[in-house]
Parts: sequence; C-alpha cells; structure tokens
Amino acid sequence: MINAKITGVGRYIPEKVYDNAYMESIVDTNDEWITRRTGIKERHISEDDEYTTDMATIASRNAIENAGITADDIDLILLGTVTPDYFTPACACVVQANLGASRAAAFDYNAACSGFVTGLTIARQFIQAGTYKHILVVCADTLSKATDYKDRATCVLFGDSAGAAIVSASEETGIIATDIGADGTSGMAITSLAYRNDDEETEKRVSHKKDTIWMAGQTVMKFAVKAMADASHKVIKEAGLTWDEIALVVPHQANYRIVDSAIKRMGIEQDKVFLNLEWYGNTSASCIPVSLSQAVEQGRIKKGDKIVLVGFGGGLTWGAALIEW
Ligand code: UT7
Repeated sequence: MINAKITGVGRYIPEKVYDNAYMESIVDTNDEWITRRTGIKERHISEDDEYTTDMATIASRNAIENAGITADDIDLILLGTVTPDYFTPACACVVQANLGASRAAAFDYNAACSGFVTGLTIARQFIQAGTYKHILVVCADTLSKATDYKDRATCVLFGDSAGAAIVSASEETGIIATDIGADGTSGMAITSLAYRNDDEETEKRVSHKKDTIWMAGQTVMKFAVKAMADASHKVIKEAGLTWDEIALVVPHQANYRIVDSAIKRMGIEQDKVFLNLEWYGNTSASCIPVSLSQAVEQGRIKKGDKIVLVGFGGGLTWGAALIEW
C-alpha cells in the first residue's frame, strides 16, 4: 500500500491588523465582549488589491520549498476557498500559472472551513490509487472581502490567510484515517449568495449586500462542538488508537468557546491543542494548515507524532484527519 504523507507546509498571513480597538471604532462592540465571547484580539486583513490567489501562491511556494521539491514535481493542485478571485478561471489554475507548475492538473473545491481536511482526503485517494506522487493542497480565503462590516455579530470574527501542504507518496506512515461529512439540511445557517436572487436572504444582512456572509451563530456553535468531537473520535477509533496516543490536536478555530467545549467532549486537556485564534480570528479553511506550519516551526510537532486535524464550517460540513508526522 502506498501511503500519503504531508512532506511540507507553508503559510501566508497579510500584514494589516484590525485589533479589537479598531472593531470598536466601526461597530457597537467592545474588547470585553469580543474577548469573552470569542477569544479573538486581532485579525489580519488583506490589502484591497490582494486576493485569494496572491496569498495562496505565497503559501504554496513556502510549502514546496519546505517539502524540498520543485513546482515541476507537482501533479495536482487542489485549492479550497469560499472567496475565489473569479468563478473561472479556478484559483487553482491561477496558482498553477503563478508557480509555473505546468504538469499539474488543477481545480477548486468548496468545503468552507472544513476545506483542508477535505483536501487531504481527496489527495490521499489519488496518492493511494497510484495516480499521483505530489499533490499541493492549498486553502486560502480573503473573508474580509465578504464580511459585512456593519454586522457586529460576524465582522469581529473573520480574518484572512493562506495555508498549504504538499501531500506525497511515501513508504512512511502519513494520513492514517479521515472522516468528512455534510448536513445540507442546516446549510442556510451560514450563507453568502452568488448568482441566486434570494430577497429573504439578502434582507437578513445588516448591509443588505447579498455577497456578504450571514450566520446563525448559535446554530453553528451547537453543530460545531458535536461534529468536531464525533469526527475526531471516529478517526481515532478507525486507526485503533486512544486519545493518550495523540500528541496534538489542530482544530479549526472560529471561537474559543467552541474549541473549549469540543475538547471537553473529547476528554482531552488544552495543552494537547494548538491555538492561535487570539491573533488571527476565524480564517476559514486556511486556519488548520497555517496552525500546522506554526506548530512545526515552534517544535510542537516531532517526527512520528500522531496528530488530529479537525474542522467544521459552511455547508454545513465537517472533517477530521488522523496523521502521523
Ligand atoms: O467557521 C465557521 C463559522 N463560524 C462560527 O463558527 C461562529 C459560530 N458562532 C459564534 O462564534 C457565536 O455564536 C458568536 C460569536 C457569533 C455570537 O456569540 P453568542 O454567544 O452566540 O451571542 P449571541 O448571538 O447570542 O448574542 C448575544 C448578545 C446579543 O444581544 P442581546 O440580543 O442579548 O441584547 C447580540 O446582539 O450579544 C450581542 N452581540 C454583540 N455585542 C457586542 C452580538 N455581537 C456582538 C458584538 N459586540 N460584536
């Protein structure tokens, strides 16, 4: 059996920062509310002329270098986003051109904040089938461009970033188990409209701009806690492991209270969880690969460690992956 293993990671985080004092200056909110209800202090925001593919290209270059391969080695580019530069060409094709990865097939997919684990799951299939040797999974979102900065319930949450990983064919153990899923019946809990004219949805937005994000926060919170805990349990069980054997959990971070409730449900201590939400906010699918690259850099992950990556988001979707580093 050929294994699919993460052999390199990379990230890009824009420089501009909106801190809680700035949020106080644009909507009726305060640092105390934001900190207590979400755990967020700062979010990084792309420049007006800085787009998803710009950020994805930088994160991808870092991951390629980290993996010790070249752009020419890449067979497939999978790009997860909910804020594409264009509907067509796909962001993955723009990144392919930027990287000069001319041999690579390329397409976008949308699993919202569950995007990285979904990308790993797709990549693993192509690697294990023997189709491809090196796959770039890159997740990038400029959520700030879809944020309703008149809606205090959502605008304090979102930030921008890009995270990437190279998944390669390997004799070493890599991705051990994955679980992805969706509950489309709850899909309208997080919306951002494209071509569809839906007056009712548009009216829900404080700004009445249909392409901004609207969210039923409480519904998503309840879904997230259960989905993250259940999916994590499932991959650990499938691998025949116990929580004691897991070195680190890298969760999607949308709200500290969600992560805290989920880890209580998992029955693990916070020192086993990688957290950076305070400085970035909810950065959609890029949250997990950005965290992974920081965890590696900070020495929180060592070779042979077993790690759970787990996310949830729009769709509503969820996904967990158990990997060996
Ligand atoms: O990545 C996946 C997508 N996103 C998420 O996972 C987010 C999931 N949801 C959440 O994180 C939380 O639901 C929120 C942070 C969005 C909201 O927290 P909450 O504890 O669910 O608050 P709430 O919506 O029940 O609102 C409580 C109160 C309300 O006031 P009243 O009606 O009690 O007077 C809100 O109007 O807090 C008010 N409120 C605010 N107050 C100050 C809402 N946003 C703010 C704000 N500042 N920014």
